[in-house]
Amino acid sequence: MSEPVVRVFPDAAAVASAVAGDLAATLTDAAASCGIATVVLSGGSTPLALFGLLAGTPYCDTIPWASTHVFWADERLVPPDDPGSNYGQAWQALLRHVPLPPANTYRMRGEWVGDAAANDYSAQLAAFARLHEPDAARAWPRFDAVLLGLGADAHTASLFPGSPADSEKPVLAVEADYAGRPAQRLTLTPPVFNSARQVWFLVTGAAKSSAVAGSLARDSSPVRYPARRISPVNGEVVWYLDVPAASEL
Ligand code: 6PG
Repeated sequence: MSEPVVRVFPDAAAVASAVAGDLAATLTDAAASCGIATVVLSGGSTPLALFGLLAGTPYCDTIPWASTHVFWADERLVPPDDPGSNYGQAWQALLRHVPLPPANTYRMRGEWVGDAAANDYSAQLAAFARLHEPDAARAWPRFDAVLLGLGADAHTASLFPGSPADSEKPVLAVEADYAGRPAQRLTLTPPVFNSARQVWFLVTGAAKSSAVAGSLARDSSPVRYPARRISPVNGEVVWYLDVPAASEL
């Protein structure tokens, strides 16, 4: 467990560009050393600039897409073609533009009811881990890179302030209202994030400066600031911020 690394960039475009370069390097290294690479995506507006970069040159050609496996940190309980779907957003902005084999996409079943969808995703994670890490005690993969966002209320993935304490389950169905987005959601849980190699928070804009400061303060409450629960045992946390988001640090 190490202290989070905080990297501050002039603007949101520079954040997206840095994450794109770091992600390409991480996936390339993982594919070279393990034969496969895994990445976990989030929803919201922040990753759209990153998705745009990854979908274009050089990354659509240089990332080892054929060896890359794509998962989600959270999902809204809507069908995949609904504008509120995190999978749908990633498909439109990124996945349909790159040579990722369809079988390498592991989406949460947003069109199902919460508990069934959570159980299904838990089973997808367990099956992937059994296949690729048969000796692991975990029922989920050790992800190479997890991309997370942060709400102005300090939620991350769909772990909201005041949400139930740590779960042993890898996937939970939750309900939370935020910015008029679909309230019924699924989320990965801290034990999954905490076995990842890299967890990267992408946060831009002044509206999130106080949520960033609270999430990084050593003495702040993990109930109020769920990102405090994310601290990989044998991995790294990096915060990619623009200047406005970092303004209260
Ligand atoms: C979701 C997200 C969520 C998101 C934050 C930030 O599905 O809603 O994964 O955790 O990262 O709400 O969203 P913005 O990038 O739009 O500010």
